[in-house]
Amino acid sequence: MKKIKMGMIGGGIGAFIGDAHRRASRICNDFELVCGVFDVDYEKSKEFAAKEGIDLRRCYKSVDDMIKTELAMPADARMEVVAIVTPNDLHYPFAKKLLEDGFHLVCEKPMTITVQEALDLEMLVAKKKLTFALTHTYTGYPMVRQMRDLISKGVLGTIQRIDAQYYQGWINSIIHGTGSRITGVWRLDPQHAGASSCMGDIGVHAFNLIEYTTGLEVREVLSDLNPVKEGIKLDLDGTVLIRFSDKLKGVIRSSQVCAGEENNLTIAVYGSKASLKWGQENPNYLYMLSDSDTIRIFKPAHGYNEKLAEEGHTMPAGHPEGIYEALANIYRGTAKSIRNQKFTPGEFPSVHDGVRGMKFIHAVVDSNAKGNIWIKV
Ligand SMILES: NC(=O)c1ccc[n+]([C@@H]2O[C@H](COP(=O)([O-])OP(=O)(O)OC[C@H]3O[C@@H](n4cnc5c(N)ncnc54)[C@H](O)[C@@H]3O)[C@@H](O)[C@H]2O)c1
Repeated sequence: MKKIKMGMIGGGIGAFIGDAHRRASRICNDFELVCGVFDVDYEKSKEFAAKEGIDLRRCYKSVDDMIKTELAMPADARMEVVAIVTPNDLHYPFAKKLLEDGFHLVCEKPMTITVQEALDLEMLVAKKKLTFALTHTYTGYPMVRQMRDLISKGVLGTIQRIDAQYYQGWINSIIHGTGSRITGVWRLDPQHAGASSCMGDIGVHAFNLIEYTTGLEVREVLSDLNPVKEGIKLDLDGTVLIRFSDKLKGVIRSSQVCAGEENNLTIAVYGSKASLKWGQENPNYLYMLSDSDTIRIFKPAHGYNEKLAEEGHTMPAGHPEGIYEALANIYRGTAKSIRNQKFTPGEFPSVHDGVRGMKFIHAVVDSNAKGNIWIKV
């Protein structure tokens, strides 16, 4: 089958997530990177393109140039989808232009800066009938997909509590002047990050994981955010109480300043019959607990898994797979959608998940600003 021709914005030398996107698109083997604007600095962008073996005539100075030149090419040579892997403030303007010009998108989270922008994109995707995949990467793990399917089959009974945590520590050393990391620090700047650092960057993953695995929508939030230090403009830490209904509540705890924490994202869904727990740092283990039985552990690449989880591994059981394969699963689903093939809901997060994420971020910021009150999502 012909590869889908992909462009990329961002993701040049030294960038974090763009490299993961390229690897994932190669693992799933459905895409071919043909062009891009890989860096804000054109010289560095060309340096990257040369290293990557991309035709330098298709390494563009700006996104406008890229769109114009690619549109002038014969349809079978032109890029079909673009991966947007820039800082947050650039997702919306680039996504809007590209959708208007008929390109499918893979876009990083948080999808936009404002809720209105997110709604605009949702409307445009529907109007243009294009594929839009939002890379909430963790939804691509086989055991997260297994969790979603087990919950949808009702194996937990009535869900009674949901608890998600996302703790990192890398910003701790930056605010205390002991760290040397220079990439990604735009996350502390409202102009590039938006209304929130911690909740916008990682709390939103926890939120998405909750809605993805349970199929439920968070109705209201009450947050207590913490910038941690004088002079910091955005939250670096916070707790969010969440309500789904009068009888189902939970919590999202998230921090970027927990010294020593790496990428500690966990989710636990507690039901009346049983509970499921999963953690990103050991992603191939899904634990099922109950009052009356021994703990069960689900692992990838076993026939006992549900369809989407079972399809989500590339190696036989016992060969650990991780973040690249998870992202590759999202790319695989995206490819099916672009090719108009049948796909299962949940194979890739959608523009609607992006809208939900933006509503969550703004409700959380609003709740905190108004004195920690309940706000509708
Ligand atoms: N899904 C995930 O798990 C995950 C993980 C990390 C980051 N992200 C998201 O990915 C995005 C990028 O984050 P990152 O950590 O890779 O950032 P980064 O700072 O490492 O890389 C950003 C890249 O964008 C480029 N860029 C900036 N302005 C540009 C412009 N005008 N035109 C073209 N390129 C431009 C930079 O030169 C750089 O190459 C963010 O939205 C972030 O929230 C998601």
